[in-house]
Amino acid sequence: MQIQKEKILVTGGAGFIGSHLVDRLVAEGYPVAVVDNLSSGSPLNLNPAILSHTNGCSLYRMDVRDSELHRVFQIERPTYVYHLAGHIDLRFSVEDPLHDIDINIAGGINLLKNALRESVKKVVFASSGGAIYGDLPENLEAFPHNHPPSPASPYGYSKLMFEKYLEFAHDAYNLNSVSLRFSNVYGPRQELSKESGVIAIFTSALFNERPLVIYGDGNQTRDFMYVDDCVDMLMRSLSIHIHGVFNVSTGKKTSVHRVTEILSSSSNIPFEIVHDKDKKGDVKNSCLSYSVTKEVTGWEPKTDIEEGIRKTLAWTKKQKETPPDESSSIDLYQSIFGRRTRHWFHGSLWR
Ligand SMILES: NC(=O)c1ccc[n+]([C@@H]2O[C@H](COP(=O)([O-])OP(=O)(O)OC[C@H]3O[C@@H](n4cnc5c(N)ncnc54)[C@H](O)[C@@H]3O)[C@@H](O)[C@H]2O)c1
Repeated sequence: MQIQKEKILVTGGAGFIGSHLVDRLVAEGYPVAVVDNLSSGSPLNLNPAILSHTNGCSLYRMDVRDSELHRVFQIERPTYVYHLAGHIDLRFSVEDPLHDIDINIAGGINLLKNALRESVKKVVFASSGGAIYGDLPENLEAFPHNHPPSPASPYGYSKLMFEKYLEFAHDAYNLNSVSLRFSNVYGPRQELSKESGVIAIFTSALFNERPLVIYGDGNQTRDFMYVDDCVDMLMRSLSIHIHGVFNVSTGKKTSVHRVTEILSSSSNIPFEIVHDKDKKGDVKNSCLSYSVTKEVTGWEPKTDIEEGIRKTLAWTKKQKETPPDESSSIDLYQSIFGRRTRHWFHGSLWR
């Protein structure tokens, strides 16, 4: 007889990183419950087991701030929680910091309260190294995980603040948690409207014959990490006994200008580059050292930028040639939500 694995709750499971994580968890036989308000995520990203509510999986269209969240915990009784839901728009946080706090701090605390009440064993949080450390000084190759934080945006402060709440929950209630400070993650399914996803924006522009818009001179650098590597570390965070903050990155700086060169050589599609002025809240350089993460967990990234961009290009090309059948996912979603009585929660219906 096969032993049922522990239930895992993933917030933001319909988003870019979350949906890749859910695919991996489902493939490894975990029953997974997804909580997502679908504000930037999509049912098209979701694993069929989640959409069809099979293999112990389920989907709750719900905001993490919702007071009904406790009912999801009571029904699903998750052993582990991944918290990836939130807005990721750094510039939006500059324009509307209160809204940023509401989603990324208050939403997280609502989740944490329920995790404590239901005695969840571990919370794994998608934090952001790029946003927390701020601009990389010239005398540093990469930020170590214990470098003093210096966020350049309210988004960075919110991420840091929620890490602190997790520390508090550990000290006060012994809740185990892992905050993964990701660098810039890229790959298939990344939302194009998010300004941080420069590789996704460029690959899409390429196949749609639009110019590639570079803010500033293009010499700004980022530490671009392919999504599969990010998911490897998310998975590892469950399987080994660790607690605390870890950088998850490549430790390499790649300029935006270099990204356009790789796109040019990998795609053979001609494109035009247009320059626009720098954006408020953007840092010039960002790079994180993962050496402590490797030492403690054994994790290291496997995909170099050229290979990651090739994979992203291949996926974007396929999407362009055979766009996904949106109606079938939505039909399936509607049929489930129409017949399942357990999804009566406020905000859970497809609208
Ligand atoms: N993409 C990156 O480079 C990167 C880097 C560092 C950290 N992160 C963090 O990783 C997480 C996932 O990022 P992503 O790139 O997959 O973004 P995404 O926008 O694709 O995913 C976020 C998901 O959360 C959902 N969501 C948003 N607000 C919600 C709310 N109030 N209640 C319930 N669901 C909500 C969205 O619908 C979406 O499915 C985020 O927390 C982000 O801050 C991402």
